[in-house]
Amino acid sequence: MAEKDLNELFLHTLKDIYYAEKQILKALPKMAKAANSDDLRAAFERHLDETETHVERLDNIFELLGKAARGKKCDAIEGIIDEGEEIMEEYAGTPALDAGLLAAAQAVEHYEISRYGTLKAWARKLNMPEAIKLLDQTLAEEKKTDETLSKIAETAVNYRAAA
Ligand SMILES: [Fe+2]
Ligand SMILES: [Fe+2]
Repeated sequence: MAEKDLNELFLHTLKDIYYAEKQILKALPKMAKAANSDDLRAAFERHLDETETHVERLDNIFELLGKAARGKKCDAIEGIIDEGEEIMEEYAGTPALDAGLLAAAQAVEHYEISRYGTLKAWARKLNMPEAIKLLDQTLAEEKKTDETLSKIAETAVNYRAAA
């Protein structure tokens, strides 16, 4: 692939994850509000703060590229978030609600991990050390959040849902 094409693909994917992060910023407060478990609510609230930083890091990368920070509608994240909202409605007031919220949140994190992993690999290929550093910081936070959610699921939430 020519360098120019990979540059374009990088920018395209940057716009995709920028749009996704903005959607996640809107979804997380609703998920925190819906959660029954205090641990789960705290995890969502903490990740909301981190997500604001993820947007700022993406702003920085757009700036490094000399491009305007702009999102591009991402159908994948819309679908994942829609499914989460469906679960919030269908399982409201049931013991399984938190398990459903966790599953939806982990689908979001896995999507982000996939995107940031790809962008980091491409930034390496395109020799963009500053971007690599920023992408790596966010990637680490997405992975840590996924692990935290797994732990909450194993220790409390799924157990309660099954009881
Ligand atoms: Fe994020
Ligand atoms: Fe995330």
